[in-house]
Amino acid sequence: MNEHVSLPESALRLTLNGEQRALSTTPGERLADVIRRSAGLKGTKVGCNAGDCGACTVLLDGNQVCACMVPAAQADGCTVTTVEGLSQLPIGAALQAAFHRNDAAQCGICTPGMLMAAADLLARSRSPSRQEVMDALGGVLCRCTGYLKIVEAVLDVAQPTTTPVAKSEQEPNGAAVGTRVPRIDGLAKITGAAHYGDDAAPADALWLKAIRSPHAHARFAIGDLAPFLRRNPGIVRALTARDVPGHNSFGIYPHIKDQPVFSETHVRYRGEAVMALVGSLESLEAVDIADLPIEWEPLPPLTGTDAALAPGAPLLHADKPHNILTEGFLVSGDPDAAFPHAAFTAEGSFETAFVEHAYIEPEAGYAVRVGDRMEVYACTQAPMMDRDEVARVLGLAVEDVRIVPTACGGGFGGKLDVSLQPMLAVAAWHLRQPVRCVYERIESMASTTKRHPAKIKARAACDAQGHLVAYESDGDFNTGAYASWGPTVAGRVPVHGAGPYKLPHVRNRARAILTNETPSGAFRGFGIPQAAIAHETLYDDLAEKAGIDRLEFRHINALRAGDTTYSGQRLDASAGLAQCLDALRPHWAELTADAAAFNAQGTRVRRGVGIGCMWYGIGNTGMSNPSTLRITLSRDGKLVFWNGAVDIGQGSTTVLTQIAADALGVPVSQFDLVVGDTDLTFDAGKTSASRQTFVSGKAAQLTGEALRAQILRLTNAGPSATITLKGPHLVISEGGRDTTVDLTHLPDRGGGIVLEAIESFDPPATPLDAKGQGRPYATYGFAAQIASVDVDLDLGTVKVRKMVAAHDVGRTINPSLVEGQIHGGIAQGLGLALMEEFIPGRTENLHDYLIPTFGDMPEIEVILIEDREPLGPYGAKGIGEPALIPTPPAILGAIRHATGVTIRKVPALPHRVHAALVKAGKV
Ligand code: FES
Ligand code: FES
Repeated sequence: MNEHVSLPESALRLTLNGEQRALSTTPGERLADVIRRSAGLKGTKVGCNAGDCGACTVLLDGNQVCACMVPAAQADGCTVTTVEGLSQLPIGAALQAAFHRNDAAQCGICTPGMLMAAADLLARSRSPSRQEVMDALGGVLCRCTGYLKIVEAVLDVAQPTTTPVAKSEQEPNGAAVGTRVPRIDGLAKITGAAHYGDDAAPADALWLKAIRSPHAHARFAIGDLAPFLRRNPGIVRALTARDVPGHNSFGIYPHIKDQPVFSETHVRYRGEAVMALVGSLESLEAVDIADLPIEWEPLPPLTGTDAALAPGAPLLHADKPHNILTEGFLVSGDPDAAFPHAAFTAEGSFETAFVEHAYIEPEAGYAVRVGDRMEVYACTQAPMMDRDEVARVLGLAVEDVRIVPTACGGGFGGKLDVSLQPMLAVAAWHLRQPVRCVYERIESMASTTKRHPAKIKARAACDAQGHLVAYESDGDFNTGAYASWGPTVAGRVPVHGAGPYKLPHVRNRARAILTNETPSGAFRGFGIPQAAIAHETLYDDLAEKAGIDRLEFRHINALRAGDTTYSGQRLDASAGLAQCLDALRPHWAELTADAAAFNAQGTRVRRGVGIGCMWYGIGNTGMSNPSTLRITLSRDGKLVFWNGAVDIGQGSTTVLTQIAADALGVPVSQFDLVVGDTDLTFDAGKTSASRQTFVSGKAAQLTGEALRAQILRLTNAGPSATITLKGPHLVISEGGRDTTVDLTHLPDRGGGIVLEAIESFDPPATPLDAKGQGRPYATYGFAAQIASVDVDLDLGTVKVRKMVAAHDVGRTINPSLVEGQIHGGIAQGLGLALMEEFIPGRTENLHDYLIPTFGDMPEIEVILIEDREPLGPYGAKGIGEPALIPTPPAILGAIRHATGVTIRKVPALPHRVHAALVKAGKV
């Protein structure tokens, strides 16, 4: 009998943030859990519970430790400082201010750990070097920032710089766009006050634990659960597919709801949920999974696209012949006729790996039934989509589901799909009691979506002068066991797959292939980073054959305003690739000369320089994707921005408020914000596809302008009048004359609101035809990046020394946030190129799955090109995805320049680079 007996709690005496505390603890409990549970201090985060991520870093007797690795008993009698107590330290407040000033916290989930590690360093050394900062903070992982602004922030405390002053405290009306307005939600992140998915839940919430398949492919049967439940009285409910009140399925596309909440008899990937247990946390932790009456019949899995496409391969889904989920296609001109007449041709096969999002916050949240409505509080990138999925699973109308996004500790596409939301909702629906859940790190990595591994065959051709004439590519993208965003990848890749160049003859095909592997979904670029590796490598080949400098080759061929893309779209404006390349020329010359000088020394380390270009359609492909926003003014003078766009760390809350503030003509600080709550905000679309600045930003501009027009009409003021909000009075000034409007005298529209503007923007796009022709996007981001790398010929290791990134963002709304996106994108691109490879069952933790750390980051120089987009808010486009896409090809081009060897399979791990060098006779 395995009856659970509660472990005795004992008192842990310690000085916590300057206070003597006696905290209850159980034998073996970790310090992180005591801090969060008994002390209720949620600023200390848990990203892995295994000593790998450093999010839980606190000071123990003044020294940084991972609180998840310290037995609580070890802290007895000690002094513990968490982020909540940081300001009590001599440099604490200055450190937090420096993080805020330097925009060192994006999603903010790593920030408490970073701050505590920095506090440890600064207590020992008030003037650390850059290297000492990197060493001292090196145990804390950040997936968002690329670390550079974190280092700058710590150095800013040690050696105060002239970093721009916080603007919102002093900005005049209408001057927020283009300035370094500090992140509006930044203070909560640097104090530990921000609530992420696991930081708040009702006191009576039960816990949920999903039971998942240990097999990549199996049949299973669940026996009688009653004896198990009798043996485990702390478990109040075991949920299976039979308990789903509505549809037991979900999926991104309305016509492909192929993923079950709980599988019924058959699992298609390792990590798939088959049931869930609900009960007290202690009971769930004590459960022996082997004690559950589940009989597994393992089946041979289809691993990789070749196996799935092999003749006679079993079908993952009966309605998907040959295991092909979907296929995207584009053709323009006549590639078959063009290739034979080209002066130069190049071809190759390329392969990329599964890549894990590795957001530091695992999925977390809770659900609560309120009457016959369901409310879900969880981290997400897409609250309205979550609402629709939960409603479908519960069999409710969408109006009867409310999603309230918590702070989101990173997403990058991985939190666009629902994960725990449907399970929590099913549990809370039946139990009529709140139910919460936080995924363990391994569970998060094993069960949620990845970047599609790709196999791409491609060929390219140019004339004797280096003008591209033809490109053809054929890509198979491993979409895993369920559709997720596979159709989006298959649709987007052909449109972008030959790169941002003028090309008269193109044929691109991309297929999403079903396998018995982790579902692939959305990850910063939707397949374009994989495709860019292929086309940029081949264009290096062509440039070499044509005897043209690689940068100049791209400049010759760059799409410019007035050109027509190979999907038949005329680019009316804002196509700044050539300007990006112009800006990079001096850096290219300098870094190339530096490499030549370095290599003349003849050491075993070779230096090379590479270049990668990209374009990226902003927003959904060939379909409507509107955003609707609302601003209200109340009779008491309260100005509220109702904004449904979720900020996952990229800064949309700040950017959209800057835009709205300028459009209305008031300071940013004047707004109260309501963000993301599906009951309170309109649909601003999902936070993906680099769309929030462009699409929601335009809606913010229109909404601000509409409210301004209403206000000016109150006094018949002209467009140049200024607006000042003073309590319940609006002062409208024009030509030296002030007119005051008493808001309490205006008619109440309900709830005290006297003025209201609601506006939408839906970027103009048209569906693609069977040949991939149309107007898939309203606008595109363009970029070019240069990489300088050192390759150790003996070891095969690659060190990226420097990146220079030139990005056409249309208009920079907030330079700090744009720089942060580029730094973070480069970090993720570097990981894709050199180190990241998710292998189901093998690299499902942050110890075996390596992401870039401080020491992996190169120096980065950012150049912002502002080729304004007439449709965009103040000319702005998007930056999220464009930041990453050019990095891998630039790095691979640099490896080739250094060694003469072309790497066609990423990540370019040392053994792969070394094997390629050996094969090429370079060592
Ligand atoms: S949570 Fe402690 S190191 Fe990750
Ligand atoms: S800001 Fe570091 S993980 Fe998001």
